[in-house]
Amino acid sequence: MKTADALRVHLAQSRIALELDADLQSPSSSPFAHPFEMNGAQVGNRFCVLPMEGWDGTPEGEPSDLTRRRWRNFGISGAKLIWGGEAVAVRCDGRANPNQLVLSEKTAGAMARLRQELVAAHVDHFGSDRGLLVGLQLTHSGRFARPHAGGRPEPLVAYHHPVLDRRFPAGVRLLSDEELDRLVADFVRAGRLALEAGFGFVDVKHCHGYLGHELLSARTRPGRYGGSFDNRTRFLREIVSGLRAEAKGLGIGVRLSAFDTVPWRKDPDGAGQPEPSPGYECAFGLFEGDLGRALDDARELLRRLDSLGVRWICLTAGSPYYNPHVQRPALFPPSDGYAPPEDPLQGVARQIEAAARLKTEFPHLMFVGSAYSYLQEWLPNVGQRVLREGKADFIGIGRMVLAYPELPADVLEGRPLRRKSLCRTFSDCTTAPRNGLVSGCYPLDPFYSERPEAVKLGRLKETLRA
Ligand SMILES: Cc1cc2nc3c(=O)[nH]c(=O)nc-3n(C[C@H](O)[C@H](O)[C@H](O)COP(=O)(O)O)c2cc1C
Ligand code: SF4
Repeated sequence: MKTADALRVHLAQSRIALELDADLQSPSSSPFAHPFEMNGAQVGNRFCVLPMEGWDGTPEGEPSDLTRRRWRNFGISGAKLIWGGEAVAVRCDGRANPNQLVLSEKTAGAMARLRQELVAAHVDHFGSDRGLLVGLQLTHSGRFARPHAGGRPEPLVAYHHPVLDRRFPAGVRLLSDEELDRLVADFVRAGRLALEAGFGFVDVKHCHGYLGHELLSARTRPGRYGGSFDNRTRFLREIVSGLRAEAKGLGIGVRLSAFDTVPWRKDPDGAGQPEPSPGYECAFGLFEGDLGRALDDARELLRRLDSLGVRWICLTAGSPYYNPHVQRPALFPPSDGYAPPEDPLQGVARQIEAAARLKTEFPHLMFVGSAYSYLQEWLPNVGQRVLREGKADFIGIGRMVLAYPELPADVLEGRPLRRKSLCRTFSDCTTAPRNGLVSGCYPLDPFYSERPEAVKLGRLKETLRA
């Protein structure tokens, strides 16, 4: 869409409720430039870099040169909030791929240096690290664990899932209560190491179908970690209380899939279809058309987190594995996805609306919103409107930072956007790692388009098209 009016017409015709400002405010009055303060933490502006793994750590779980380059790019983005960098496994069996970072006593020094490189790059570009807050996302990949070379699935699940279990022909293994107890201790140990490594906060990841998120919907699980809401949040609550006791001074945030859907799959003709799931009770926040209702689960959790003093929330939705169009709206699906079943702007609008509703209902919590990259040149205009109307505290950006790291700085300094650098949601940054290649923006970042993996990726996409 070439003009704000053209986009508005398209939105109205498509019945997509999304608002934008036609013009960006000057740097001195831009809502993106307003500092944010909460619980004593100062954040210098309202751009947030969302966590994004690169599948490029060493086999031991340490950052590689590629990881360091990505984190330096996060630093030069100009965003003052770095929500987690990327998912870092608290132990080896929780890696989503054999190259995911792991936080352990052995890797903690390298993680501290990784954070330092981000901060140094930021200081080089902007003269100071004032107002820069860097967190680390802690995870266990649970059902989607692929920890060993070759990347074969080794799913560790919270409960047997009537649809998703079928996607693992070799079977899944149910984690026992005692194993979950040990995992709580692993998260707490990792939090302590993150604090020692200089991170300002950890995100106790509860999104995208990984273990923390799956536990939230473990209604059919017997025992201490399943059934009642209290039991389903035990894992999170115990990690929080462990961190409070053993990592004093560390901030705690939660990245949450605020709503979900039944799993989707690809039809033989490439279209996306929801899996028939009568009486589905495996979603945390089942969205079936009524977003207000779908958010009831999130509301209950936010009340509980608030009472625990956890007030930094990064909102996302669904899972990249079973409903990618909900989680990261895109025009071009990744290799394991399906053709978009809706205008991707609908997916963007849904996540923005979810954040707006929750921010209105929980005004004293801090919310980062996600899924803005598909807006492309209109990202700043929509983000500015959201901030101006107080519908989120931070505009979180993921893929756009891979394609165009300096976008936040350009907006903050009033420079025109570099159109050629804008993420066009080709999904290569997801297709590559799904096929064992490092993740990066192959189409738009010359650093990746010139790598040998780009040739492999090109061949792979040709085969898939054929
Ligand atoms: C290559 C890639 C890796 C990602 N890795 C993570 C991750 O480690 N942790 C996480 O919470 N989300 C991850 N995400 C999701 C993003 O944080 C974000 O929610 C999503 O891309 C939608 O935001 P966007 O429209 O700005 O890209 C990843 C996304 C991409 C494209
Ligand atoms: S590969 Fe680049 S253009 Fe494509 S979705 Fe990822 S960041 Fe965007």
